[in-house]
Amino acid sequence: MGTKRIVILISGRGSNMKALLDARLNATVVAVISNIPTAMGLQIAKAAGVDTKIVNHQDHGDRASFDHCLAETIAAYSPDLIVLAGFMRILSQEFVVRFSGKIMNIHPSLLPAFPGLNTHQRAINEGVRLHGCTVHFVTSQLDHGPIIIQAAVPVLPDDDEQTLASRVLEQEHAIYAQAIRWFVDDKLAIEGNRVKVAADCRYLGALISPEP
Ligand code: GRF
Repeated sequence: MGTKRIVILISGRGSNMKALLDARLNATVVAVISNIPTAMGLQIAKAAGVDTKIVNHQDHGDRASFDHCLAETIAAYSPDLIVLAGFMRILSQEFVVRFSGKIMNIHPSLLPAFPGLNTHQRAINEGVRLHGCTVHFVTSQLDHGPIIIQAAVPVLPDDDEQTLASRVLEQEHAIYAQAIRWFVDDKLAIEGNRVKVAADCRYLGALISPEP
């Protein structure tokens, strides 16, 4: 069994992607693909010597055509794992089934709370005390699918969207690398809607205390 191959999909600044490129993963990031030609993350990937590709959704008349083109572009790299890192397109059932069990996403909330957009502001508006992030395998339901790891952070009284987002983002970078390490080391098994993590992996989630 050779080194595992990872393709990362991005749409924007790519801080999660960068954290993964910087992490020691025992795997090779063979490509970074973006649907947005101007995505900042593409420059970071190029500077790191990673192959980049653009599959612009605006060049396609419908989702099926875009998804097919994206799937073919990805398949050319023969990835073991597809990592969605701030990839802002909903993927069709056909796409998800084609790469079943091989797609991970990170979402900036403690799923199943706050799927969708503007998670940090919604968490503040709801007055929740704990917020956080989730890494999960992707199914055709948006921000849904077997959960691999979560990290919780406190919502502090003076938080605004930005301060809360940056507290969560720090944890995103940590738990995404952890989830991918487990995948690469064959520590994960999907059983129905649950992910079984091998017994020798102690860390299944994290509660981050407020700063002193
Ligand atoms: C992250 O908060 C991620 O959880 C969400 O989109 C944001 C992407 O940020 N899906 P970045 O591009 O990784 O910096």
